[in-house]
Amino acid sequence: MSATAIDLRLAQARDARAIAAMSRDLIEMGLGWKYDAPKVARIIADRDVLTLVACDRLGLAGFTITQFGDERAHLVLLAVRPRCQRQGVARRMMQWLFASACAAGMADISLELRASNQAARDFYRAMGFADAGLVNHYYREREAALRMLRVLRRGDQPTPLWQAPTLRRR
Ligand SMILES: CC(C)(COP(=O)(O)OP(=O)(O)OC[C@H]1O[C@@H](n2cnc3c(N)ncnc32)[C@H](O)[C@@H]1OP(=O)(O)O)[C@@H](O)C(=O)NCCC(=O)NCCS
Repeated sequence: MSATAIDLRLAQARDARAIAAMSRDLIEMGLGWKYDAPKVARIIADRDVLTLVACDRLGLAGFTITQFGDERAHLVLLAVRPRCQRQGVARRMMQWLFASACAAGMADISLELRASNQAARDFYRAMGFADAGLVNHYYREREAALRMLRVLRRGDQPTPLWQAPTLRRR
């Protein structure tokens, strides 16, 4: 299926179970299931978190969860279903995330991934993230994490001005 048949939108409460199952099967394997459906439902409802989903006619194709702070954002989870991978789905979600983070004045986006996850590392590098250090014993105190960072604006640059859109009179 082509990526054009996959739509992106903000997650809704009804997406929580499918997101949680994808996290269990594609991200948290062997680590215990932390992001179960009730936790994901709370995350979707959190106004400081951007949760995006990509959907095709069969259902959830991918998702990403990013926590926004005052100036920094942290990408918590990202996954694309195997049948939809290498079709630009994650790239499209990242483009939405970058645009949102820039509009919100974020200086950078950080993330951690399993140090052994070479495919994800290659993906994040292709998206402009750079290695920012190895954290030993990060996952369940036994598996190392690689920290990566994507700079959106330098610290000495001002926060971009943003104005709420106005409704045009007809
Ligand atoms: C990492 C992941 C999200 C990428 O999703 P995707 O939709 O397949 O990625 P895209 O198709 O948007 O890829 C964009 C670019 O990233 C790079 N890339 C993506 N997957 C790659 C892989 N397996 N190996 C090498 N490079 C890869 C390529 O440069 C690719 O561009 P190209 O296809 O034109 O060569 C997906 O493989 C996945 O869900 N993996 C399992 C879960 C996971 O590891 N999540 C990340 C840690 S939380």
